[in-house]
Amino acid sequence: MKAAVTTKAGIPTVIEIKEVIKPEIISGWVLIKVKAFGLNRSELFTRRGYSPGVQFPRIQGIECVGVIEDDPSNTYEKGQQVAAMMGGMGRYFDGGYAEFCLAPLEIVIPFKSGLRWSKLGAIPEMFQTVWGSLNQALELSAGEILLIRGGTSSIGMLACQIAKSMGVTVISTTRNPEKIKRLRDNGSDHVLIDNGSITVPLNHLFPEGVNKILELIGTKTLKDSLKCISNKGIVCMTGILGNEWAMDSFSPMDDIPSLGKLTVYTGESKNISSELLQKFIDSVENGSISLNIDTIFKLDEIRQAHEYMESNRAQGKLVVELDN
Ligand SMILES: NC(=O)c1ccc[n+]([C@@H]2O[C@H](COP(=O)([O-])OP(=O)(O)OC[C@H]3O[C@@H](n4cnc5c(N)ncnc54)[C@H](OP(=O)(O)O)[C@@H]3O)[C@@H](O)[C@H]2O)c1
Repeated sequence: MKAAVTTKAGIPTVIEIKEVIKPEIISGWVLIKVKAFGLNRSELFTRRGYSPGVQFPRIQGIECVGVIEDDPSNTYEKGQQVAAMMGGMGRYFDGGYAEFCLAPLEIVIPFKSGLRWSKLGAIPEMFQTVWGSLNQALELSAGEILLIRGGTSSIGMLACQIAKSMGVTVISTTRNPEKIKRLRDNGSDHVLIDNGSITVPLNHLFPEGVNKILELIGTKTLKDSLKCISNKGIVCMTGILGNEWAMDSFSPMDDIPSLGKLTVYTGESKNISSELLQKFIDSVENGSISLNIDTIFKLDEIRQAHEYMESNRAQGKLVVELDN
């Protein structure tokens, strides 16, 4: 089969398109004929060699969508549509950057849809992350106020649409004033320009602060976000767009307001059910959710796709669609 193999840690040219042996089925796993997959920032870190325990050569890709090619457990029929994500996929075992992918049953979720594969490919990891962050980590409910820090990211844009559908007031941030209209068109009630500190403009809008914050920039802005929560508010750090893994100093008694809560979300496929995934796919199909897809690449273009993601020029999800 054709696969994009990350031959060693390094720049995008370490990924090579190769003919490799198609994986052999093993008990407890399914063989998926890959139709499409979304690209994820964590794959940049893995490619650079920053994911602990990952050995090269490795077929990367923490998610994919496709059809069942073989399932010895007979849980799924040949040809059934499925998504697979996380659980070590593309890190500790070969992932979605290939014509076929062997995945353990527990990370596979079935669905039915007439959507194009390129759209379906954008969904699994993005939806799981947004749904888990908003519902499981932030326990978001109608009438609340949500600040999305890193609002123009794919995760941020989808989080805004889902929060609005739940009856939540949304404030989104961007560093770039030219993106204000895009955020407004996507449903944000308010947009703030983020230069690293937004407490003053936020307090003008909401003097008591906001009760929920989705932190996608990460450690760079986390302390400032903690200053923005109202009484008993929650900050969930889900992203690390600022590219800084650790903080120089963190003093919980000073940095977390009394009764405030700080959590993180690093989700798995088990955080969503097949019913939730199906409901979300249906809402994309009926137009109530609009996916922000920037570019659809071919498998042969995987190096360009990595370079593009690294350049930060994308304004939406990047997807690879296979020809098979
Ligand atoms: N925890 C999980 O389970 C999970 C799962 C998936 C993704 N994630 C994380 O969620 C985050 C968002 O992912 P994504 O794929 O949606 O991102 P994305 O679409 O690639 O985000 C692009 C946006 O990031 C902002 N950005 C880029 N570099 C930045 C920097 N140095 N400082 C501040 N903002 C910066 C830019 O916004 P402006 O130019 O408008 O400011 C840009 O529009 C990532 O950190 C990703 O790793 C987490």
